[in-house]
Amino acid sequence: MSPSTKSGVGNRTRVTGTRPSTSMRELPLSEVYQFLEAGPVVLLTTSQSGRSNVMTMSWHTMVEFVPPLVACVVSSEDHSFAALVAEHECVIAIPSVELAPVVVKVGNTSGRTVEKFKKFGLTPRPAELVAPPLIAECFANFECRVVDTSLVDKYNLFVLEVVKAWTDPKRKRPKTIHHHGYGNFVVDGKTITLKSKMP
Ligand SMILES: Cc1cc2nc3c(=O)[nH]c(=O)nc-3n(C[C@H](O)[C@H](O)[C@H](O)COP(=O)(O)O)c2cc1C
Repeated sequence: MSPSTKSGVGNRTRVTGTRPSTSMRELPLSEVYQFLEAGPVVLLTTSQSGRSNVMTMSWHTMVEFVPPLVACVVSSEDHSFAALVAEHECVIAIPSVELAPVVVKVGNTSGRTVEKFKKFGLTPRPAELVAPPLIAECFANFECRVVDTSLVDKYNLFVLEVVKAWTDPKRKRPKTIHHHGYGNFVVDGKTITLKSKMP
């Protein structure tokens, strides 16, 4: 088959061997994530044996509206991974841009050796339905239970159900941060409103 022949792959059609004739430049596959990580960078709290921990997370996506299901990747190298596997609970806390320096430090330190809440000045507050704490400095906090671990062995991917959600009504339009890799973040910009059928 010549390189430009269309070849059926399952029910999809693939064109192989052609290059875009525009000014497109090939992107190293290792950089793809920097374009797709659209969601806000969040903090994930866990608790194990009465000890709380917090990590930074940007690899997450919505899976269902209600009940809200969120898929997220937590590396098995992270201390938080063991707590998630053992306790099946966590809190997703959403920081605004003012917390960005703390968010990066939390994501560059392990709870194995550091008491991160204390070291980085984050205030734990009791959650209602789960053991891991909310974070007072974050404008939204979602209490979660792990509901599906079938892809944990393969991809470190946990599916979480949000069972209780909190936001701070005093903070009207907090700006979130969005990870572009290597210490680069985009900060939420202006809101535009268009007619759309999508909820
Ligand atoms: C901006 C940013 C985003 C991150 N996103 C993730 C992620 O989605 N999944 C993950 O496993 N680690 C992610 N990390 C790395 C963890 O936060 C980091 O490994 C952390 O030290 C783990 O903490 P722990 O060992 O206390 O669990 C991210 C770090 C940063 C700075």
